[in-house]
Amino acid sequence: MAETTIIVALDFPSKTEAFAFLDKFHEPIYVKVGMELFYKEGPEIIKNIKERGHKIFLDLKLHDIPNTVKSAMRNLASLDVDMVNVHAAGGKKMMSAAIEGLEEGCKGTRPLCIAVTQLTSTSPEMLKEELLIETELAATAAHYAYMAKEAGLDGVVCSVHESRKIHEVCGEDFLTVTPGIRPAGTSKDDQVRIATPAYAKDQGSNFIVVGRPITQAPDSVEAYKSIKAELK
Ligand code: C5P
Repeated sequence: MAETTIIVALDFPSKTEAFAFLDKFHEPIYVKVGMELFYKEGPEIIKNIKERGHKIFLDLKLHDIPNTVKSAMRNLASLDVDMVNVHAAGGKKMMSAAIEGLEEGCKGTRPLCIAVTQLTSTSPEMLKEELLIETELAATAAHYAYMAKEAGLDGVVCSVHESRKIHEVCGEDFLTVTPGIRPAGTSKDDQVRIATPAYAKDQGSNFIVVGRPITQAPDSVEAYKSIKAELK
């Protein structure tokens, strides 16, 4: 079975809280920096986190014309991040342009590039009535994943419950990055379709994104280690 890596969602309002959290860890971890923190602190925070030895998924979900995405990705790659993402709805040309930009801008290994298929906030009604997409939500997500693969992307963000299907359609090497993870007995918070770390591994998730069960735990390091043990 493929290895499953924990990505800790660094959902903090500023670097003060983010670094107070990271100070607790005495080993390199993989973190996700989203729009909230990046737009507050800028590229400097990426440099600071890298200097501490951690890996970074920079979750900015790019979606623009191919040329703009290519140039933006060139700049993001120069920050030496390990993973970035785009909206598959931008189309194949935009996704291929993202890869070109990353290749041009990276110093060593190209950052992994992952596609968002449909946001989990998109309901079947919204798809039909607002976006005028008649195809069913799950089929749309699977089609977007296949498009991402054809464009040369490395994987998709998806629910644990879609992970197996996406591996079937796009191959075992195509990565699935899955949020909505809750260890047994922990709060669901605002997540709806949750899964345990062990179940995510069983479904073939390559990366699990975990936020509050670690960041808000009384002992964050212990919570992290316990999830790591569950994945062994
Ligand atoms: O705290 P929690 O574990 O719920 O955090 C999950 C992280 O994954 C958050 O940063 C959230 O924005 C992100 N995410 C998600 N569902 C998606 C895509 C991203 O929960 N479909």
